[in-house]
Amino acid sequence: MVYQVKVLVVAAVSALLLMHPADADITYDPECDPHYKDISPQHTMCIVGDVGTEVVLDQAAKDAIVQKHNDLREGVNPLAGDMTKMVWDEDLAIVAAKWARQCVQGHDPKRNVPSLPGIHVGQNGAFGYGSWDSAVQGWYNEVQYFEYGVGSTTGNWEDVGHYTQVVNAKSQRIGCGLAECPTKYYFCNYAIGQYGVERPYLNSTQSCSECPNQCDASGKLCDCGGKLCLNGGTLDLATCTCSCDEPLYSGDTCETLTCPSGDSWVCGPDNQWPPSYCTQFSNVPGSCPYMCGICQHECGDKMCYNGGTMNYQTCQCTCATGYDGDTCQDQENCPTGDSWVCGPDNQWPPSYCTMYSNVPGSCPYMCDVCPHECGDKMCYNGGTMNYQTCQCTCKDLYTGDTCETLDCPEADKSWCGPGKSWPPEYCDMFSNVPPTCPYMCGLC
Ligand SMILES: *[C@@H]1O[C@H](CO)[C@@H](O)[C@H](O)[C@H]1NC(C)=O
Repeated sequence: MVYQVKVLVVAAVSALLLMHPADADITYDPECDPHYKDISPQHTMCIVGDVGTEVVLDQAAKDAIVQKHNDLREGVNPLAGDMTKMVWDEDLAIVAAKWARQCVQGHDPKRNVPSLPGIHVGQNGAFGYGSWDSAVQGWYNEVQYFEYGVGSTTGNWEDVGHYTQVVNAKSQRIGCGLAECPTKYYFCNYAIGQYGVERPYLNSTQSCSECPNQCDASGKLCDCGGKLCLNGGTLDLATCTCSCDEPLYSGDTCETLTCPSGDSWVCGPDNQWPPSYCTQFSNVPGSCPYMCGICQHECGDKMCYNGGTMNYQTCQCTCATGYDGDTCQDQENCPTGDSWVCGPDNQWPPSYCTMYSNVPGSCPYMCDVCPHECGDKMCYNGGTMNYQTCQCTCKDLYTGDTCETLDCPEADKSWCGPGKSWPPEYCDMFSNVPPTCPYMCGLC
């Protein structure tokens, strides 16, 4: 069976990048809190020192920021069927404040929080406004360039990216920070952060159409209490429940990781799903949690090559036919030839060599696992190749160096034909019928 690679991971879009932080003079503490360092050694919380002075937000200020966002989210046009009610998240706020204190007019590259694994965090920044209310309103005012389904009418998504983050339906959590640089630098971090600006929410003829039983008092916002589904889970707004990325994750918010005994056999450097797929395809880590570094193992960098599979409990390789050695790097003694199923017109044609992991083991010559001197020569029409002599053994009726010639007899055998012992329907059922009844079976 061939595994299909499903979903491409969508690249994240953050709002308005004015200046790359690499332009600023930032150094990272190698001893920083492992919760952040495990996310990235360049996490914002690992930045050494601060530039500006934090303006600490009291509860009233936090409540006002949340209220302002929810007021704006209630009022979107066209109406939103899935707009959620935002709540404050202090973990997001701590990182936003740390970044604000760096006094950089741009976004930080690593702002995910340990309490929200697998959740992309978005960010809005503003500079020089006199109050939080005016800063958030400034972001919202980009609505003048916004057209639902299109994004920005200017053609530049950065002209609406703050607006679309403020009204992103999935951004249920917000945490903000403010610093004096000495002009005021405002940053808000959002979870889940936006992935695009064209459709920040589901437009609908009716507010709360996606959550009729979870609609808040305003009648405009789906209220799941800020619930997010972690580790690739998705939230069902109608019930405020999570569908988790099975079988790895489970629990109310998909917080529980259960590691299987090993990876699927499709995982490996020379298998269908190599390590580079871990970040390219969203369904690969679920099938290859050890190779992709989600489940802990003690095997270090060791991998099993040439189609081998790794047992991550024992760190031993099980090699594909034709290979041995600790990492399956060695070619075993080659057999005298391929199996009779190998060949361009046989059950396993050359295209199967890369599609099915067991084919190179049975057809090591055709798949060029074992060396031979026969070049590109192959035996057609069901013939089989002797790779020692480079001679074909042809099927009945076929002759020629590569079995390319069909030699028709004068007539079919007497038992071929409708109503006789070998009727036409046998042609497809039994492999010896077509050479015996080549006229009836359409060969001649
Ligand atoms: C939602 O927006 C799309 C354009 O993206 C539009 O075609 C559709 O009619 C709108 N639906 C509602 C219910 O407003």
